[in-house]
Amino acid sequence: MADSFLTFISEIIRKPGEVGAVAPSSKYLGIEISNYVKSPSEPINVIEVGPGTGAFTKIIADKLKPKDRLDVIEFNSEFVKVLKEKMKDYPNVFVHCLSITDWKPDYKYDYMVSSLPFNVFDDSFVKVILNHYEDIMKPNSMISYFEYMLFPKLKKMLLSGTKKENFLKLHQVLDDFRHKYEIDTKKVFINFPPAYVHNLKLSS
Ligand SMILES: C[S@@+](CC[C@H](N)C(=O)[O-])C[C@H]1O[C@@H](n2cnc3c(N)ncnc32)[C@H](O)[C@@H]1O
Repeated sequence: MADSFLTFISEIIRKPGEVGAVAPSSKYLGIEISNYVKSPSEPINVIEVGPGTGAFTKIIADKLKPKDRLDVIEFNSEFVKVLKEKMKDYPNVFVHCLSITDWKPDYKYDYMVSSLPFNVFDDSFVKVILNHYEDIMKPNSMISYFEYMLFPKLKKMLLSGTKKENFLKLHQVLDDFRHKYEIDTKKVFINFPPAYVHNLKLSS
């Protein structure tokens, strides 16, 4: 637990533009963001994108039956070491070390929990990621992701010129995707910083 926290903090310091967080998320955010994940009688495929050191991974895995599958996609190799150790007693959880844009499975998913830090990416990369999300998910599947509550507003206020234009473009891409599929948004205050959880249903 302490190891996983220290690894997360040291990688935030080393690679702030990739990790895009100020601290690991709380278990309350983990419970809310995995709220829609349910294991019915048929086996399901679940994917977690950007798990970090696994703040949500066990919460998701504990909702699954042995016949279900959870793929965990993280491209930071230090986080992957921690995750593999943490999840070693879960035979239906598979940790993969690569970027989500390079993950091309020959099956599709019923649920996705995404923690990617969209706010630190540019709009063209976010478009690529969101198109890829649509490709790897089944029709009527669910995507849940979070964003920090005040961060986008603060960043918008502090930026100017081209940087501000790029940030607004990025938000347009994210908002378009969200408005297309959103079924609800929840607020989680017991997290640092407080966050919104957006729940989307990929209706065809
Ligand atoms: C905001 S952190 C979230 C970590 C954890 N889920 C939490 O909430 O505490 C985002 C994570 O996404 C990972 N990440 C960033 N870009 C990625 C990509 N293209 N593919 C896979 N993981 C990525 C980062 O390494 C980092 O672990």
